[in-house]
Amino acid sequence: RNPIEDIKSRVKSWESLIKKVRRKEIPLTLSSIEENIHDIAGVRVVCSFPDDIYMLADCLLNQDDITLIEKKDYIKNPKPGGYRSLHLIISVPIFLQDEKRMVTVEVQLRTIAMDFWASLEHKIRYKKNIPEDKALYLQNEMLECAEISADLDRRCAGEHQFDDVLGAHHAAETDDGNAHRFVHLPDHAHRKREECGAGHAARAVGKKRLSRLEIKAHA
Ligand code: GTP
Ligand code: MG
Repeated sequence: RNPIEDIKSRVKSWESLIKKVRRKEIPLTLSSIEENIHDIAGVRVVCSFPDDIYMLADCLLNQDDITLIEKKDYIKNPKPGGYRSLHLIISVPIFLQDEKRMVTVEVQLRTIAMDFWASLEHKIRYKKNIPEDKALYLQNEMLECAEISADLDRRCAGEHQFDDVLGAHHAAETDDGNAHRFVHLPDHAHRKREECGAGHAARAVGKKRLSRLEIKAHA
């Protein structure tokens, strides 16, 4: 089973970088930007189940050339508006023609439900000219939707809740890929963790390298 549903990466636009420099009131110099702004390179990893998030984060951080700078767990501690995701600010080496440089990357790991909510909330937040009373209503609605999405993640946590219904023997008897997936998922997760090991985790950062993980996970 491939624990990754989707990977998006982006480099912060110049305009958005300038806005952030102004907001943080820091000098517009290379060293100050390097020191204070850690999301110029951003990678978003959308996972199938909440457990996959922590498994992939472990894989990534076990990579010996990756250093964790900061971790924000908005899954265990959601933001007041309802936002959930695991954020890792990491430092990774990049190899230039005649030098090795460390760059910081913000990695956001989330489930499909978390991603769905965050995408909608992001769109709504940037809608202009919403009257105050309607804005408050929307905020409350989004908070309720966040709770529903968290509930979805709990109900679709993947494995255990289907064990009773399907029974372990059922998976052995059937070729049904889905039943197999639910019943044996803990095994898979465990194996995946071992498989991931050193060579694989960094792929969450580089798309080209990542495709190898996907190929392996599919195999
Ligand atoms: P910045 O100074 O903007 O980086 O804030 P921060 O250091 O507090 O960063 P944080 O880790 O809280 O959030 C950084 C990124 O997470 C944002 O650029 C968004 O992509 C995402 N994010 C954080 N909070 C929210 C939220 O409430 N809604 C949505 N849709 N995305 C969020
Ligand atoms: Mg940030």
